[in-house]
Amino acid sequence: MKKHRVFVTRMIPQAGLDLLAPFCRVEVNPHDKPLGREELLRLVADKHGVIGLLTDHIDAEFFNAAKELKGYANYAVGYDNIDLTEASARKIPVSNTPDVLTRATAELAWALLFATARRIVETDRHMRSGNWDGWGPLQFIGADVGGKTLGIVGPGRIGTAMALMSRGFDMRVVYASSSGRANQVLDDGLGALNLSFDELLRESDFISIHCPLNQGTRHLFNARAFELMKPTAFVLNTARGPVIDEQALVRALKQGEIAGAGLDVYEFEPKMADGLAALDNVVVLPHIGSATVRARTDMAVLAAENLLAMLQGRPPKTCLNPEVLA
Ligand code: GLV
Ligand code: GLV
Repeated sequence: MKKHRVFVTRMIPQAGLDLLAPFCRVEVNPHDKPLGREELLRLVADKHGVIGLLTDHIDAEFFNAAKELKGYANYAVGYDNIDLTEASARKIPVSNTPDVLTRATAELAWALLFATARRIVETDRHMRSGNWDGWGPLQFIGADVGGKTLGIVGPGRIGTAMALMSRGFDMRVVYASSSGRANQVLDDGLGALNLSFDELLRESDFISIHCPLNQGTRHLFNARAFELMKPTAFVLNTARGPVIDEQALVRALKQGEIAGAGLDVYEFEPKMADGLAALDNVVVLPHIGSATVRARTDMAVLAAENLLAMLQGRPPKTCLNPEVLA
């Protein structure tokens, strides 16, 4: 049997490559960094399948270069990096990796919540500086979590999981979505309230962002949104950077319009907005939402299974444009 030619745009956990090996000739980006655009376009020219990352822009130019492409597997759940309309117009199936990273990402949102509320990074830095002179009743006072209101923006898989994890902390949960649809799991399980976006901004003490990035959510958090938030409230973003206008966030933090921010993603990754890194009331992480052993391994396996299915003419488990398979 002739083997399919597959390109993987960056090294991923071996379990995924092992699944492909019996059926495909697999080539992996030899550098431990994103490929330059020209090199990427050159390397996909003769490939039947590609596994790519959220840092790859998959658009008309890419599909023009990848003339023999039969399937594209995104190694991520978010797919704002992919022009799905272009893929569908060319009848190329595209898959993503939902579910397998839900828990890991929801857990990281909690890590950011506690890190900002209890000033974990700032106080760790203080300790390491050698300047701590002993316990004091007014030192490093943080925010309470229990009994406060958690606002979920985008109650999909990850937002729902994050909200359900609040049970141990006895929080009031509210949520807002672009569809306005009720989330039965949250309503029944937590007695959560389905609010408008503005109501959520006004009522929440911690706002956790879990919506996808699209035209409707780009800069959803702008100067106006920060004005509506409580001055004691925190915003956490483990979704996509451009959902926040990062310049406006820096201004809001400097002017005390909100209490703090926990960020895993940035508007112009890998850069941060000017002034952000100098603020003590932000915690900044390098896009590690899915970076656990289980999540990253399961993402590699799911992406490989999806790609194999597409190459072998079977429906992939998690296809973003299943209409092209018909
Ligand atoms: C990570 O950011 C993902 O979308 O999987
Ligand atoms: C989004 O796709 C999610 O899993 O919440």
